[in-house]
Parts: sequence; structure tokens; C-alpha cells
Amino acid sequence: MRYGYFDRANDEYVIDRVDVPQSWINYLGVENWCTVINQNAGGYAFYRSNQQGRVTRFRPNGVPLDRPGHYVYLRDDEDGDYWSVSWQPVGKPLDQATYRTRHGLSYSIFESEYSGIAASQRVFVPIGDDAEVWDVAVTNTTDRPRQLSVFGYVEFSFHSVQIDNENFQMSLYASGSDYADGVIEYDFYYEPWTYHYFTADPTPDGFDSMRDAFIGAYRSETNPVAVATGRCSSSQATTQNHCGALQHRLSLAPGQTVRLTYLLGHGRRAAGQAVRAKYAQPDAVDQAMADLAAYWAAKQAVFACQTPSEAMNTLLNSWTLAQAETCVVWSRFASFVEVGGRVGLGFRDTAQDVMSVPHTNPSKVRQRLLELLHGQMSPGYGLHLFEPALFEENQRQDIPVGVKLPTVVPGKASDLIHGLADACSDDHLWLVPSVVAYITETGEVGLLDQVVPFTDSTVDQARRAETLGAQYAARFDPAPATVLDHLMRALEFSADQVGANGIAKGLRADWNDCLNLGGGQTALVTFLHVWAARELKGLLADLDRSPDLRDRLDEMIATVTAAANRELWDGAWYIRGYTRDGVKIGSSQSDQGRIFLEHMPWAIIAGVADDERGRASMDAVHQYLASPYGVHLCWPSYTTVDDTIGYVTRVYPGVKENGAIFSHPNAWPIIAETMLGRGGLAVELYDAMAPCLYNDRAELRGAEPYVYAQFSYGRDHEFYGRAQNPWLTGTAGWMYTAATKYILGIRPSLAGLVVDPCLPPEWDGFRVTRQWRGATYNIEVTNPDHVSCGVAAVTVDGHSVAPQAGRKRTHALVGSAQPGQSIAVSVRLG
Ligand code: GLC
Repeated sequence: MRYGYFDRANDEYVIDRVDVPQSWINYLGVENWCTVINQNAGGYAFYRSNQQGRVTRFRPNGVPLDRPGHYVYLRDDEDGDYWSVSWQPVGKPLDQATYRTRHGLSYSIFESEYSGIAASQRVFVPIGDDAEVWDVAVTNTTDRPRQLSVFGYVEFSFHSVQIDNENFQMSLYASGSDYADGVIEYDFYYEPWTYHYFTADPTPDGFDSMRDAFIGAYRSETNPVAVATGRCSSSQATTQNHCGALQHRLSLAPGQTVRLTYLLGHGRRAAGQAVRAKYAQPDAVDQAMADLAAYWAAKQAVFACQTPSEAMNTLLNSWTLAQAETCVVWSRFASFVEVGGRVGLGFRDTAQDVMSVPHTNPSKVRQRLLELLHGQMSPGYGLHLFEPALFEENQRQDIPVGVKLPTVVPGKASDLIHGLADACSDDHLWLVPSVVAYITETGEVGLLDQVVPFTDSTVDQARRAETLGAQYAARFDPAPATVLDHLMRALEFSADQVGANGIAKGLRADWNDCLNLGGGQTALVTFLHVWAARELKGLLADLDRSPDLRDRLDEMIATVTAAANRELWDGAWYIRGYTRDGVKIGSSQSDQGRIFLEHMPWAIIAGVADDERGRASMDAVHQYLASPYGVHLCWPSYTTVDDTIGYVTRVYPGVKENGAIFSHPNAWPIIAETMLGRGGLAVELYDAMAPCLYNDRAELRGAEPYVYAQFSYGRDHEFYGRAQNPWLTGTAGWMYTAATKYILGIRPSLAGLVVDPCLPPEWDGFRVTRQWRGATYNIEVTNPDHVSCGVAAVTVDGHSVAPQAGRKRTHALVGSAQPGQSIAVSVRLG
């Protein structure tokens, strides 16, 4: 069953069957303001912080599943019939009305045709403004004049998710709203720094700012009393629950279209007036939309591919890029599933996310890298979850000193630090290749020498000693240090945290949050350690600097690689690790959790596995873990609780980390297969997860066909194949990286742009346009001999260039061009 289709020309996903059984959402806003909105205009907005900066309210995990939202109601003032531009909340029968939702890149459009009235509501957040614009158009398609009312409606929130969901004995009496000059101003009385507004152009004919006056008792957003009666009641007051409801009365001649603008924003009435003045002309709204389109077009132009795979073309050129960027900008905690209970950055998640988009969002990636480096403790490990805003000194200067407000005030940086007991064994390792990827993309070599604090550079030193233990604390200088020093500390931390056999200790968790090996050992981190060390060593070698550090890294790589191959090979695959009692996990001898996915590709990517072991272990992954819907995380699922293995054994079989198809690590075997030269298998794995390939059987996967989700239920569960937790998952970034840098094989290096594809042999080739450091590379890859990989011939602007010998095969290396230059690169595989 399908609910919609991809409009490739506009990079939109069009939902033309809006009764999707769950929410298919979109993210609006790329700076300070974020709106999470579904196909029914249900959802919420926040300013900067999804936890402390909520603008509109959401009733999460509710019934119905998407209330409230950012709604436009229409009412026929002659017969009293009313509906909403989005199907819900009024929900006219679908055989009487037509609805369509277009989710585009950072905008959504809701369209309806009912009772001879065509209407649309285009919602977006203009670049440069902390506001959401609704561009509403209403057309009379009948041949008689029509009298209509249009109502824009939002429900305001008590700002903090916590205050908005519990203990109203204070908050209910602290919020207020009033209307003047066409603007509803909403405030939270004891937080004199937070105001929101809702306004419209033209000036409305009516308003309500008290929610219960607009909706009415024993009613809901489906049938608000103000809409039913066609009359707002000019309600405004201090205390109680508030809304923005603005009514316009329209007389529409046959064929006439009227455009209205509603604006929801952060700031006081004056800010609302200024934003309204700015967008009063439809041209200004169109220009802001054009600016947003240009923002995305500029990103899309950095890497644009045309391949024989429609899935790749659709996903890589628009949706996966947008999803990866969304993860970098908004991190993980603002969706319909994560609704603000957590805030900030997950160290490992962000450290991985940023790897995927240094070419399209270098400034945000740079900002995130510096935040992560600051989120590192002086021994080298990362703070597992932290809010970088807390590093900003004097933040919240507007909170009066000495006055204790009931507000939920975010803590101080010293509240963030944690000791080894809460450290994960992998967090810091992801940061190393991310910094390398950023420098390789941008050429900003000087970043290595920039001095950045550790979190414990800036906190109370007594607290530091208490957290780390006096002896351990004394080993590390907490003074700010260069980025290179930060990265070396990360690698040395892992070098230090090994057991007697040289295998990495499993601390609180590694990438797999549910393997809690405290005292046991982890193959994944062992392999990641080698990979991260190799990446830094490669960069330093390319830069011809720090020979002593390179020697140290070589030594580290050799020692850990030897230990890995000595201790972790199980005969046909690599084990996942050891419990603290020395029992193997993920071994042919294990009854449950006999084989795991997530570490296996890293043995290959890190260069730990030789070809034979690499192929054997990936064959085992295909044999035991693969499915038509992607690769399972482990098999068989655990059914017996074992706390020496971890929480995974307390999760239902086939769910999340316990034998589900966890999406994120599905990208890694794709990379590994390209390294083994098996392009057909790589694309098979890519296709199994590609959301768009489920479009025509959307009921199976359930989630949005345009984005990856965190996991799909595994074969041990009755919901096998159903995908959960869409959008904010590291899958997007990794799938993007796997496909662009490894299947299509286009990746920058300090020596030049590498073209090293690994394709299904049946592919005839592909084209990519890649902008890199100001030049444009128009790359054409041909595959006349139908091989998977290996470059036989290269020409650059018609001149032939010798292919380069790589680790296992030849590739093209195109020296960097001058900024502004456009060069034609032609690569023949063979
Ligand atoms: C979640 C976490 C991520 C973790 C993964 C596997 O996606 O955000 O950090 O790696 O689960 O446990």
C-alpha cells in the first residue's frame, strides 16, 4: 500500500493518502527555531532548546496521535460547515474532501479541496528570523461569491517540557497573554526573558488567546467552539492555558484567491510587529522561500549524483542529506518519540553525525567538533551526554542574581562531568576520524593546533578530583590543550583501558548501549581504536608532521591489531567480546547472541582482518544476520537475563539492540563490502534499508519512506520489518557516507580527490558533480567491462592521468583544482 510518492523535481515527498496510520514528520528550521510537524500539521515548535525553549505544546504519545498542531481552520460562514486545511484536526471524510501534504526540504505544505474551496498552508522558518511563517492561500473555485472565516491556531506551552507536563500548581497561574495591534503576546510571568507571539497579515478580525475559550469545554481541536460558531471571543487574561487564535473574515469572488500570512515567533510584541511588517507582502514570503530553497540547493550542488539506482538518486541528492544535516543541527532529542526529556549532544552520536556533512555544513560541523572537544575530559574520554550551552559563560545573564525563581534552570558545567564509571568505551574514538574528515574536506589544517579546554579545565578542581579520584586526576593536566593533543588523549585513553590480553575494556557501554560489560571486553572498541589511530596517523603522515606521534600511533596500531587477531577470531567470525567472567560473547559456542553485526565490519575497515578473515566474517554476517529488511544486530536474540552481558538481555527478542534490524550499523557492512571489492553485495545491503524502496508497501515498514529509522523489528518479533524512531538516527549520516564515499567512492584526501568506486558489476557507470574547496569536479565513471572496482584509465580535462595503486586496487587521484575552476574527470573501471 502506498500513501504518497516522491516528487523528484521539487525534492518533495507528497502524501496524497493522508490517513497514514502513524505520523510522517518533517523538520522546519535550520538555525535557532525548530518545528517538528507531521502530515496533519500536528506537532510543536521550540526555540534553541527542545527541553527549555518550547513554544507550542505537544501531547506526546497521545490519542489521537498528533495533537495539537499548527492549524488553519476554514469555515463557510453561510452554512456553518467547517474544516481544516490539513486533514486533521477536523478530519472530514476522505470521500468528501481532498487533502495533500508536501514535505519538502525544511518546509511543509498542506493542501485541501472541499466545498468548492481550494486552500493551502505553506509552513517554513525563514533563514535569519526566529519565527515560523504560514503562507495561506484560499481560492474560491465555485462560480458564486463565498463568505468564509479563516482561523490560524496554535496552543502555547509552558516553555519547559517538565513544567509543561507536571505540577501545574504554579505554571497555570504564571502564564498570560494579551492582544494588541494584531499581535497576541504570550508570556511566562516569572521568566521575563521569554515571550512568544502569534500575528497575521492582514490584521485579523477576531482573536482568542485563552485556549479554553477558543476550544470550549468538552470539545477538542476537532470542533473548537469558536470555529463552530464562527466567532472568536476576544479572550485574553493572565493565568490558565493560552493559545494564538486569529480569525479573518473573507468575501471571495468566484475564482478569487486571497493570501494571508500567519507568523509565530520568539520575542515580544514589537518583534512580532517587525516580522509581520517584513512579511506583509507576498513577495517577501516568496523571497524567503526562495532563500530557503537556495540554502538547500547550494548544499545539494556540493554532491549531486546520477546513478542507475533511483533509490540512491532520490536519497543521496535530497532526503538522506537533509536527514544527516538535521541530526547535526538538532541532535537527537526532538521528535514525536523523544519529546524534550533530554537535551544537548550525545557524544558518540554527534561525533559520528558530523563525519557525514563537512562538505555541506562545514561551519556547523566545526562548531560541533569544538563542542565535543570541550566535552572531553582531560584523561581523554567524552562526556556521554552534555549540553554545550552550559559551557557558555554568563549564559542566562537575564536571570536576576539572588532571586530564586521556580524556573527549571539548566545546570552548570561542573554538574556535567562524570568519572570513569559513566564513561563509554567508544565515545571519544569517533571524534578522531571526525576531525580528520573535517580537515581533509576543508583543508583547515590549523585546527589541529587550536587550543581548546577540556570540560575539567573549567570546572571546580575539587569537584574534578572527587569525580576522577585524586590519583587518576593527578595523571592528567586539565589545562586547555591543542586539538591534536585532545585526539592523542582520546587514543591514549583507549590504549590504557585494555585488559591483560590487550583487548579494550567494555566500560558502561560501547556503541551498543545495551552491552554493559563493565569489567568485560569489547571487540568493537578494539577495532575502532585501530581505525581511529590509523586515521590520525594518515593525516599526520600526509602533513609530514609530528614523527614522534606517528611512531606512537604505529606502535598502538600494531599492538592492538595483534591482540585483536590473537584473541578475537572465533574460526569463522570475530567474537563480540568477553564478559567480566571471561565468557565469550558472540561466539559459535554461545547459545544466544552467537553472532553480532556491529563490530564485524570494523575489523575490515580498520585493516585488522586480512582478506580471508574479512570475507569469512562478512559471509557469516550474510548467512546468519541478513534479511530482506536489513541485517540483524545479533542472532539468536537473548531470552535469558544475564547482567554480565547487559541490558540487551532484558529487551524483548527482536526489538532494538536484542536481535532487531538496527539501522545505523547496517551502513558499516556496506563500507566493508566495498573494501572487499564486493560491490553487488554492498548495494544489496544499501537497498534492503533504503526507505524509498518501501514506498509501495509502506504498511510493512510503517515509517516515512523518505527517511531512515532507528530500527526495524527483527524476525523474532511479530512486527518483523516495522521501522521505529524515524529521522534522528546516525543511520542517515552513515548511509550517506557509505554510498557516496565508498560505493560511488568519491572522497577527498589531502593529496587530492579520490575516485574509487565499488559497484554492482551490472552497472554501466554513473556521474557525480562534486564541489571541493571551491572547484567543481564533473566526474563520469564508466564500466564497460562490468567489473566491480579497480580503475583502468583516468582523464582529467582530456589529459590522461595514471591510476594510483591503493591498498588492494587502483583508484583515480585528481589533484586539487583552483577555486572557481570546473574540471572534467573521466574514470574507466576495468
Ligand atoms: C541509540 C543511541 C546510540 C547507540 C545506539 C545503539 O541510537 O542514540 O548512541 O549507539 O542506540 O545502542
